[in-house]
Amino acid sequence: MEKYVIAIDQGTTSTRAIVFDKQGSIISTGQLEHEQFFPHAGWVEHDPMEIWGNTREVIGQALSRANITRHQIEAVGITNQRETTVVWNKHTGKPVYNAIVWQDTRTQSIVDRLAEVGGVERFRDRVGLPINTYFAGTKIVWILENVEGAREQAEAGDLLFGTTDTWVLWNLTGGVNGGVHATDVTNASRTLFMDLKTLDWDDEILEAFGVPRSMLPEIKSSSEVYGTVEGHSLLREVPVAGILGDQQAATFGQAAFEKGAAKNTYGTGSFLIYNTGEDIVMSENGLLTTVCYQIGDSKPVYALEGSIAVTGSLVQWLRDNLSMFSSAPEVEELALKVDDNGGCYIVPAFSGLYAPYWRPDARGAIVGLTRFVNKHHIARAALESTAYQTRDVLEASDADSGLPLTELRVDGGMTANDTLMQFQADILGVDVVRPKVTETTALGAAYAAGLAVGYWKNLDEVRQNWQEDQRWSPSLDDEERGRLYRNWKKAVSKTLDWVD
Ligand code: G3P
Repeated sequence: MEKYVIAIDQGTTSTRAIVFDKQGSIISTGQLEHEQFFPHAGWVEHDPMEIWGNTREVIGQALSRANITRHQIEAVGITNQRETTVVWNKHTGKPVYNAIVWQDTRTQSIVDRLAEVGGVERFRDRVGLPINTYFAGTKIVWILENVEGAREQAEAGDLLFGTTDTWVLWNLTGGVNGGVHATDVTNASRTLFMDLKTLDWDDEILEAFGVPRSMLPEIKSSSEVYGTVEGHSLLREVPVAGILGDQQAATFGQAAFEKGAAKNTYGTGSFLIYNTGEDIVMSENGLLTTVCYQIGDSKPVYALEGSIAVTGSLVQWLRDNLSMFSSAPEVEELALKVDDNGGCYIVPAFSGLYAPYWRPDARGAIVGLTRFVNKHHIARAALESTAYQTRDVLEASDADSGLPLTELRVDGGMTANDTLMQFQADILGVDVVRPKVTETTALGAAYAAGLAVGYWKNLDEVRQNWQEDQRWSPSLDDEERGRLYRNWKKAVSKTLDWVD
């Protein structure tokens, strides 16, 4: 009877379950989208109960499509949208508020308050992050301050916090009947509360934020048995043995294990991760310092990260808010109708600008408009904005490392877009390489879980599974590349200082 590993990928727009075999090939997939709530400008929420319901359902879809039972599943891995914050009552299992999503900017006033003493860089040397609305810590504070009774319940020890890995793990392992309340080092490193050196919660920071430690999950490695599935009959008794935040999972799935290896994942946002090995490198160029992964008791591996809030979600915005087309892949058809952007640039600063600018006061702009520009140019400019933003973060990582990357490994949905990938190579001036299995996020979580239970023996086995599928090489001359990028920078400068 052949054995497999299943990964649950709890992402920003959907939840998926994917069954993998030893070669890292996909056997089957289940997937369900969940609703996005935008109650006010800048607010983004998810319903945690919907997410948990979808998780159960996609596991069923994946198992039945592969025609296998739990007896053939050796381990479960979890990967997730990071930073998205759920707070729930441990006795009822019910969230006290919707999940506040990573893109949500409602906590800007909390950020300002915390930054009054010492500025936004106040805790950077310990946690690797600036104080920003992006990270989970400020979202927990918002819930404690704005949900009736939340602070009292939290202080009485009745509330639990988790990013969605923790929410899924707790429910999978029994929920109110003894669910495991844990997270892994990668997710913990996105809260603003974890000391990168000790890998433990920092009491002084918790005090500054006013967050009781009793709410926080136990921090574990990314690859170990956290518990077994309980009460969820489809996977009953199967060990849950891997957790990685989705960007770190993609790095793992890309087998980017060596210091100096990097990958870029194109999802709702895009995230470039540069492996710095056992060194904690503090960026001088606007990148975050984060944990890349930790396997069991071994030393943690760290990374620099260039987080871009809006790339794929700009295409969704053109589809949903401007009705420019009815399905996201059509953006490429439109873009291909013109040879260039017609002088038009889109800076999608919907949540302010993340790396390398970190400007919460920025707001999106379409610039360079003339009577000549049509929707084809706008579609092209939307795709190009993803490539320009990636160049912004690649420049920062090259400057921090002093060792410019010679090629970039890519993955995620938008890598199916040939026009974008060619333009990405053109604007970076380095090769862009896509592997055969582009579901690297789920694959990384599967690897972490499989390594913990001996399904894969070591990282070498994982490395051997990586295979190149396609490579795009730059075909633009340096002068044109320079001109386009200068225009992009000019466009970015127009979006700053927008919020007063
Ligand atoms: O930090 C946010 C990131 O983890 C979200 O990823 O792929 O769900 O957009 P994704």
